[in-house]
Amino acid sequence: TETTPSPITRLPFEAIPISRADSIQLPEGFSGEAFIPWGTPITGRYPSFLEDASNTAQDQAEQTGMHHDGMHFFPIDAQVGAGKRSDHGLLVVNHEYIDPQLLHPNGPTLSTVGERTNADEVRKEINAHGVSVVEIQRDSRGRWSVLPSTRNRRITGVTPMRIEGPARGHALMQTRYSPSGTTSRGTLNNCASGHTPWGTYLTCEENWAGYFSNQDAEPPREHSRYGIQKTTRYGWETLTGDEFQRFDASQQADSPLKDYRNEPNTFGWVVEIDPFNPDATPIKHTALGRFAHEGIIFAPTEPGQRLVCYSGDDSANEYIYKYVSRNPYRPRSDNSRLLDEGILYVARFNADGTGDWLALDLRDPDFQKACTAKGVQFSDQGEVLINTRLAADVAGATKMDRPEWGAINPISGEVYFTLTNNSARKTADAANPRSPNPYGHIIRWQESSPDYSGTHFNWSIYLLAGPEQEGQIQEQFLQAENILASPDGLWFDPAGRLWIQTDMSGDQLSSGPFGNNQMLVSDPTTGETKRFLVAPIGAEVTGITATPDFRTLFINIQHPGEGSTSKRFTSHWPSGEDKRPRSATLVINRTNNRPLI
Ligand code: FEO
Ligand code: CA
Ligand code: CA
Ligand code: CA
Repeated sequence: TETTPSPITRLPFEAIPISRADSIQLPEGFSGEAFIPWGTPITGRYPSFLEDASNTAQDQAEQTGMHHDGMHFFPIDAQVGAGKRSDHGLLVVNHEYIDPQLLHPNGPTLSTVGERTNADEVRKEINAHGVSVVEIQRDSRGRWSVLPSTRNRRITGVTPMRIEGPARGHALMQTRYSPSGTTSRGTLNNCASGHTPWGTYLTCEENWAGYFSNQDAEPPREHSRYGIQKTTRYGWETLTGDEFQRFDASQQADSPLKDYRNEPNTFGWVVEIDPFNPDATPIKHTALGRFAHEGIIFAPTEPGQRLVCYSGDDSANEYIYKYVSRNPYRPRSDNSRLLDEGILYVARFNADGTGDWLALDLRDPDFQKACTAKGVQFSDQGEVLINTRLAADVAGATKMDRPEWGAINPISGEVYFTLTNNSARKTADAANPRSPNPYGHIIRWQESSPDYSGTHFNWSIYLLAGPEQEGQIQEQFLQAENILASPDGLWFDPAGRLWIQTDMSGDQLSSGPFGNNQMLVSDPTTGETKRFLVAPIGAEVTGITATPDFRTLFINIQHPGEGSTSKRFTSHWPSGEDKRPRSATLVINRTNNRPLI
């Protein structure tokens, strides 16, 4: 009798079923432990987390923030170039936003008309945003712990930052805080992240527009095109005093140095943080454009080549961008400057499977012509970058289904991007083929130029998310072991397997066929795709980084128990019993302590 040889799989684990349990589900042979949950003491007086959420604003500034998102593990010797240590490093974690119901003992205190009344509560909220840098160490059993280190650092919504690139000093960047337009206060809504070839961390400002109000009859285009509304997400601007009034960007005086109209223009950027130097001022790099930056990824960089990176604008019908530095990368020089001089492009996906990168640069003749044709004026390149979305509209880029994370296949060199969903799509096109698109998809492209710096590419769709008989990968329908929706986080492991994380919400999460949010692994060489992890109730799966030996994978479990009130928690992860839910990093190991896959 003949036996069919079993196909060689590069996913040697049993796919797990969907789950609605309030726990982490993993295949047999893997373990997942919560690590540095919101409120973990890391600096200063190392204040302990108080279960009733009564920690003060100052405590919060010395503890990890809320809602962990993008993250990167820097081996402790990464600075000297080798970067191979796997048992000791800096874990740098974004804290995207907050849930005021869970951040305070009884939720936020509000006046009868819904305004904020407690300044310390709002200060705590601002301090729960930003980034944490934590020095961590692994013992011989694979257990991680936080070291009391002078490198540990909290960056928050008030940490001073420097502005670099073409918009530095621009009239539209001049504020009461910085009349010269060269500095800014804090970073907000830090969603996904990136890391540079020279060992620094990049944190991306995504839904910052929701923190600023504008009451003007006709707000300026650098506010309106980004969706700044009359009211804000948390109402910080309803308190008096400079520290809160800066979130009201209405025109109130005869000069931008006497009101806060330009404050939002100092947000929407990619921010560089040197994790190895706790005294270094973070830098907002304006050459990378201003939009709802999800994350940023770098093309493989050889010494002597120009730097190329990609970033998506996560909002319905927004764009995917690419940046090419003017000067080449040279190890051991001041490479941070490479992020300040270069050309920003936006993607047009043509129906025939080709694509073009359109320069958003006043020196580019096609861009000049497009501006003239559309009757749009920019006085200088700084103004183009402050109005990146408008510049991309003018150039004629392809409106996408909410671009989230990108990742580059280390084997084929193709660039992959998640398009999470788009209920607002009215007309399908080749690159966004479903209208509306409730489930999302993953697109990929190959650059025509080997060094990624050229203006042409060829694209295809890798995966259409969805339920069985609807979702597809490489012409095969998805099955029980790999149905998914709303792909968001994306990462290639060193062997070229694609890790996909989901961020479903609303009805899709509560009553869809997909269960709780999840992480899958997909092999682009075969299309084989298996569910690897399911998250607790209400949580999104996001953030992903590994140690160089691949024995530890770190991911983030963001907003478990979303929709909880201060009186009723819909999840108790990770502490169990009747405890309040807390976002946390999840440390994933093989139970035999060998490399993950
Ligand atoms: Fe914060 Fe687009 O996810
Ligand atoms: Ca995301
Ligand atoms: Ca998302
Ligand atoms: Ca999120």
